[in-house]
Amino acid sequence: MDSGNLKIEWARQYMPVLSAISDRFKKEKPFAGKVIGMALHVEAKTANLVRTLADGGATVHITGCNPLSTQDDVAEALGKVPNVYCYAKRGCSVDEYYQAIDTVLDAKPVITIDDGMDLIHRLHTVRQDVLSGVIGGCEETTTGIHRLRAMAADGKLLFPVIAVNDTPMKHYFDNVHGTGESALTAIMATTNSLIAGKWIVVAGFGFCGRGLARKASALGAKVIVTEIDPRRALEAHMEGFHVMSMQEAARVGDIFITTTGNRDVITGDHMTVMKSGVILSNAGHFNIEIDGIWLSSHADTIEERDGIHSYHIGGKVIHLLAEGRLVNLAVPKGMGHPIEVMDLSFALQALSTEYLALHHVELKPDVHQVPDEIDRMVASYKLASLNLSIDKLTKDQEEYMGSWDHGT
Ligand code: NAI
Repeated sequence: MDSGNLKIEWARQYMPVLSAISDRFKKEKPFAGKVIGMALHVEAKTANLVRTLADGGATVHITGCNPLSTQDDVAEALGKVPNVYCYAKRGCSVDEYYQAIDTVLDAKPVITIDDGMDLIHRLHTVRQDVLSGVIGGCEETTTGIHRLRAMAADGKLLFPVIAVNDTPMKHYFDNVHGTGESALTAIMATTNSLIAGKWIVVAGFGFCGRGLARKASALGAKVIVTEIDPRRALEAHMEGFHVMSMQEAARVGDIFITTTGNRDVITGDHMTVMKSGVILSNAGHFNIEIDGIWLSSHADTIEERDGIHSYHIGGKVIHLLAEGRLVNLAVPKGMGHPIEVMDLSFALQALSTEYLALHHVELKPDVHQVPDEIDRMVASYKLASLNLSIDKLTKDQEEYMGSWDHGT
């Protein structure tokens, strides 16, 4: 077996929920005759989602959602699956990135699946020629949902989109545990640095940030959290983390991880006061959280290693991982989230795509929640695969929980 298929098969054995959905899709063919267009990180877990959709009768056209996150051997293997066309390439230029998105759109997809909303953005701007055929889309990540909600608020979103990111079975597991474990793994595998005893600065205490902070702390790091939201800052404080502004944290930190979904979180002002030898990385969706342009324009020399750019500036050195792109996928050793976590996220994607295929006429152009029964179904499938039992409400308990008439 070639290396791409070996990776895909490795992932498949730890994806029981998606496999169960695949088995049903093979019989029911909910996507028969439908073209699905995707822009996702093309690696082994995603390949299993694509195969599930193809098992359900879809023709799938897929490209990457980040110029540095594609695994080329997986992309090649995926391109050989019947009814699947893959255009992703690692290290593509921004022009090539959008050309590949256009090639996906040339196939006239009726459903889109995005991670970051680049496909939907292109559809609503330069590729409106294909817009009328689209019945709906699904979005995987927080940044994409922010962009979609802004678009809907401006009255510009022209078809229904399911916010897969926002459902509990996604963000409690994928963002918290997936980003938490995989970003730290990627940093350790790229730098061979010890985490224990270090000052780790986590920017943003959202779902991803809290996962990172907790897991870094469990490895023995002293964790500093920076925030702009007072409630989240307080939560971080009460979970035992040090809370400070980035200007203060910049002087203290050894390893920095941004995960805000915002821009300009670490800027030249911060880098000026950092210690020599600090490691900067980003786990947020776009490469605009850390000011890489400031680094390259102020560097006397730049040294390159696999996944690391080292900027020598006036006698000190600052290391930036993966060019500031999301570190868990974009460093050469980045494998993205653990398989079991993506089993849940992609089960939600597969079932939300099926829901769109069946119910799109009832949905107006807007951002929609994943139906609660789909979220619960994924949790139940996963519990069953783990052989874990839970209790059931008795009739009396059900009645009690639904009543307002029981007092002291
Ligand atoms: P979230 O909305 O739960 O958390 C973001 C946090 O950052 C919020 O608490 C917000 O107050 C804070 N924040 C915003 N601007 C800030 C600033 N200038 N300084 C400090 N804090 C600031 O979002 P979530 O789910 O944690 O996602 C964060 C980012 O990570 C998004 O871009 C998302 O798309 C991305 N993501 C990346 C993954 C990966 O594989 N690396 C997986 C899932 C999400």
